[in-house]
Amino acid sequence: MAIATAVLCALGVDAAACPPGAGYGQSGTNNTTPALTQPYYPANAHCVEYTVPISISYDRVNFNFSQWPDNSALEQSLVDFTTRPTAGFPSIVNGTVHETADCTVAASFCTPRKPDGKEMTVILATHGIGPGRAHWNSAYSPDQYNFVQYAVEAGYSVFFYDRVGCGESSKASGYVTQLSTGVAVLQQLAAAVRTGQYTSTVEKPSKLVLMGFSFGSYITHNTIAASPDIADVVVLTTFGANLAAGVNGNGLLRSFVPRVAALSNAQRFGLLDTGYLTWVDKYALVENYFKYPYYDTNAVAYVESTKEAFSIGEFLTFATVPDTSSFTGAALAITAETDYIVCDGYCPGVFDEPAKTYYKNAKPFVAYLQPEASHHRNFHRNATGAYEVITSFLDRTL
Ligand SMILES: *[C@@H]1O[C@H](CO)[C@@H](O)[C@H](O)[C@H]1NC(C)=O
Ligand SMILES: *[C@@H]1O[C@H](CO)[C@@H](O)[C@H](O)[C@H]1NC(C)=O
Ligand SMILES: *[C@@H]1O[C@H](CO)[C@@H](O)[C@H](O)[C@H]1NC(C)=O
Ligand SMILES: *[C@@H]1O[C@H](CO)[C@@H](O)[C@H](O)[C@H]1NC(C)=O
Repeated sequence: MAIATAVLCALGVDAAACPPGAGYGQSGTNNTTPALTQPYYPANAHCVEYTVPISISYDRVNFNFSQWPDNSALEQSLVDFTTRPTAGFPSIVNGTVHETADCTVAASFCTPRKPDGKEMTVILATHGIGPGRAHWNSAYSPDQYNFVQYAVEAGYSVFFYDRVGCGESSKASGYVTQLSTGVAVLQQLAAAVRTGQYTSTVEKPSKLVLMGFSFGSYITHNTIAASPDIADVVVLTTFGANLAAGVNGNGLLRSFVPRVAALSNAQRFGLLDTGYLTWVDKYALVENYFKYPYYDTNAVAYVESTKEAFSIGEFLTFATVPDTSSFTGAALAITAETDYIVCDGYCPGVFDEPAKTYYKNAKPFVAYLQPEASHHRNFHRNATGAYEVITSFLDRTL
């Protein structure tokens, strides 16, 4: 059996009887069942954790720069990467190389405690740069910020995982891990989820929705481009396809004010190599992810305290937006109206295209701008307003 770790707060156990925090996973009748690792699960959901072993084989960009030993060398590299193109600096890319790796993916699966048939549709959610899988499952003020709770209440099941390099999933070099790594992982995971091996009481999902946040949406979009039959529906949250006018790469690399993650917080990130970075402080988080005054400072504090490191490879490759016109399922792109990262601060006029053209054969393609938010749409006050847009899109199109 391929499941390495399984079934917690288990089948037949009342999730509501398992309060958040320590011991949540230990209230079953079998004391040898390992404890759940996530600090919180919604009471309306029956949740199980898995460690999914996968093998990936893919082509990746071979970067043409030296690894930095410390923050000083990192800062010079960031200056080099963002120097005006007319300076004629050498390319930071030296072709592509083939990569193979065995990894483990830490995942959670949550399904309604009162299933009505809709739970056979599984939303496979990929988080972005910044958080881990808890992005979808906020322990902080879950009535306001927990997508899993909302989707489960609407009847759906959600499978969400730590991307490789984050949380409890396996780690690789930050100079290697990049967009195509995430695509290779998602292709394998989607196939694994389809089998029903990692979906607890849902024996075999009937429909698969691929959903992303930010970098996770770029992974999802690229996965759809490579394998258009992989999903029935795609939901791209906090995504922008307009690389000419929407994504300002140099601006982002500068405003993130990156530091070597292991040097910023050795306790949490000490096992990652120097290719893993994190923004310098919570005001860098606020500048890149939040729109004043539409958020609570406690939500920012929660996001900052649960942040994960990101790899330089992910940052340098995320803005890759191929054509997806072979996809014929339903597609929703939902992004905040004043998204700083994917719209350079203002989405109207740069959001619908070229996404609409790429998804011209989707049935239907809907582009939606959420008011009063920036990139961390999930942690602005009206997060549930956007959740409603997503679940009602699923209700209409599935
Ligand atoms: C508990 O579960 C494990 C894994 O399924 C099993 O190997 C073990 O025998 C169980 N122990 C008891 C006391 O039921
Ligand atoms: C570029 O890649 C080639 C092939 O992998 C390698 O032989 C060469 O050393 C690389 N050049 C630099 C400057 O890294
Ligand atoms: C890689 O960088 C070196 C200098 O750092 C440069 O000489 C070389 O041309 C670059 N390789 C490519 C493929 O651009
Ligand atoms: C919350 O979001 C929903 C969905 O976008 C929107 O219809 C509603 O007007 C928003 N509410 C506020 C107070 O902005």
